[in-house]
Amino acid sequence: MTVQRPLTVSASSAGLAGRVQVPGDKSISHRSLMFATLAHGTTRISGLLEGEDVLCTAGALRQLGARIMRDEKCWLVEGCGIGQLKEPQDVLDMGNSGTAARLLAGLLATHPIVSVMTGDSSLRSRPMGRVTVPLSETGARFVTRQGQRLPLTVEGTGKGKPLHYRLPVASAQVKSAVLLAGLNCHGETVVEEPILSRDHTENMLRHFGVDVRVDPLEGGGRRIAITGPVTLQARDVIVPGDPSSASFPLVAALLVPESDIVIEGVGLNPLRTGLFVSLKEMGAHLDILNERVEGGESVGDLRVKAGTLRGITVPPDRVPSMIDEYPILAVACAFAEGESRLQGLAELRVKESDRLASTVALLEANGANVRVEGDDLIIHGQERLLGGGHVKSHMDHRLAMSAIVLGLAAKRPVSIDDTAFIETSFPGFVDLMNHLGAGIPA
Ligand code: S3P
Repeated sequence: MTVQRPLTVSASSAGLAGRVQVPGDKSISHRSLMFATLAHGTTRISGLLEGEDVLCTAGALRQLGARIMRDEKCWLVEGCGIGQLKEPQDVLDMGNSGTAARLLAGLLATHPIVSVMTGDSSLRSRPMGRVTVPLSETGARFVTRQGQRLPLTVEGTGKGKPLHYRLPVASAQVKSAVLLAGLNCHGETVVEEPILSRDHTENMLRHFGVDVRVDPLEGGGRRIAITGPVTLQARDVIVPGDPSSASFPLVAALLVPESDIVIEGVGLNPLRTGLFVSLKEMGAHLDILNERVEGGESVGDLRVKAGTLRGITVPPDRVPSMIDEYPILAVACAFAEGESRLQGLAELRVKESDRLASTVALLEANGANVRVEGDDLIIHGQERLLGGGHVKSHMDHRLAMSAIVLGLAAKRPVSIDDTAFIETSFPGFVDLMNHLGAGIPA
């Protein structure tokens, strides 16, 4: 992303209104392309997120041998089958996407090819050791920069040893990397997750015909097992709207007085809906309508109306189900009555930016009373935040969108140094908000 896009956002002059659909789920989109690449036959994917993160995954998979095309209705992937990935001729550029880099590291570990992966300066600053350390036990070799950062060279193995791994942090990326490596190993790969994280990998592997065994763990959590090598059969995929993307128009509609909107077709996987639970606890006028199952995932329409919010305590065990939603929840808390305590946020420090620090800076620059205690974020809400701040987005799409939402509800205009990174997950965000009447300068 080379062209910077600064933006100044003023309070919306009227309530937001109308019906919108947010782009496809980012996690499911990455996985659908990867699993289709590993499958035999042609997979048709509809609703794929066409954001830059996912396009980077598509680019890397093409280099590894997949044929990926788009027709008027959907994306088509002709897979090459497990064990059949080609050695890439050039460096794999994963852009801004930690999910793409970490999941692909799992796949590459157990294919006998050498590859090099890099990304933009945000991704190059993020820790890869959380996947390279366990994946090295397969017999693959990883060479990283200091601090286990990208660029990364992977020397994969065709005789991978299956892993038994207990997750030290609740991370769907790490769980998925280990499971992806196991697809091409002989024997049982087991991941134990004491705290549940999103299960799109497990669901989609099943959808492609893999036997995924999930059992409860003593003391809580799940044990997930697959026996490799497996064969994946091409299956059509319907990608639901991304609940993480929906959170931005959702919170905007809660905060801009007189708003009343519907966001259609939002994914409601229970391991992703912590924000909706939290907002309801804050007293949000948020209703889920027309709940249904589409493409194996439950989806629904969100009806949102503006109203007063109350401060909340969000417990640490809810973090994985709303890990990407804390910046926008923090904005909601800054406009709520009373104090909010968002607990156990250590993982926010290793996202696209240090999201704990960048969220604090976003709120402080706009007049909020906020502090960090250990890994907890404490926010004293006020009815209408002053705004007027200048926000640095640190190459972080979710921070930029949170700043825009804050600007729509604050007293004074909020300026943001760069909103270009919104394209990684939410192409057309400003247009969608303007369709609802936000009046953001385009
Ligand atoms: C993701 C998992 C989460 C999340 C990321 C997408 C995934 O990361 O923050 O945006 O698709 O598996 P962690 O698993 O590292 O928490």
